[in-house]
Amino acid sequence: MWKESLLVVLSLVAFKEICDGVHIIEGLQNDHVHNHWKNIDEGGSMNSVDAKACPTIVTRADWKARTPRDRYNMTTPVPFVVLHHTDMAECFTYDDCCKMMRYIQDFHMDFREWDDIAYSFLVGEDGLVYEGRGWDTVGSHAPWYNFRSLGVSIMGNFTTKLPNQRAVDAVSSIINCAITNKKLDPDYVLIGHRQATPNRTCPGEALYKEIQTWPHWKPGDHFPPKH
Ligand SMILES: *[C@@H]1O[C@H](CO)[C@@H](O)[C@H](O)[C@H]1NC(C)=O
Ligand SMILES: *[C@@H]1O[C@H](CO)[C@@H](O)[C@H](O)[C@H]1NC(C)=O
Ligand SMILES: *[C@@H]1O[C@H](CO)[C@@H](O)[C@H](O)[C@H]1NC(C)=O
Ligand SMILES: [Zn+2]
Repeated sequence: MWKESLLVVLSLVAFKEICDGVHIIEGLQNDHVHNHWKNIDEGGSMNSVDAKACPTIVTRADWKARTPRDRYNMTTPVPFVVLHHTDMAECFTYDDCCKMMRYIQDFHMDFREWDDIAYSFLVGEDGLVYEGRGWDTVGSHAPWYNFRSLGVSIMGNFTTKLPNQRAVDAVSSIINCAITNKKLDPDYVLIGHRQATPNRTCPGEALYKEIQTWPHWKPGDHFPPKH
């Protein structure tokens, strides 16, 4: 009896723990994250979508994001999805991906000196979507596209290997969620970062080949107009 209630207490503790060492039981991830759905996320981005139409999104509060230096509203729906890889380590668990999120945010804010983590959303090979700048904030992931696209980045280096199916499925569901919530034009165009910015290898050779088979991918260069 005592042992059982202790177990219940322990699992409640594990359930509430956010991103610092406790592995969340797989099946509980959805509930866990939805519990945090209404957490402040500097702009209330997550409150502007219907969670039921969306994949599990780990909010900024969940991964313990820093407050952005500044933010600019983005007019939605946007017409483009720009796909990236982070060109850094992969992550396969909630804890590791949260750590990666903080690492990437530090890198972008302290080294690149951007206002915040560059992308709108990131995806881990744990199959979860992580809130970057979110739905309604201009990004800094590809000039000219920053205020007319969702910048989605899969965490890892996909030059010679592909992300796992869970990550690919997560990209697809965040895109569907964006359309349902009128954040993305249903006739959106999908491009890889290298199609938006000259001389980039992003999203990695292997992943770039792969996205050419995805719906809405548009071939060719889409470099910003000169004027
Ligand atoms: C940006 O959007 C937020 C939330 O809709 C709004 O409160 C704020 O006034 C907007 N800021 C500007 C500069 O338009
Ligand atoms: C990504 O992987 C490729 C191929 O293994 C490698 O050449 C490249 O240096 C890696 N990128 C980084 C930033 O380590
Ligand atoms: C891209 O690389 C090519 C060849 O290295 C160079 O000629 C060109 O100026 C570069 N373009 C930009 C926009 O940097
Ligand atoms: Zn990129």
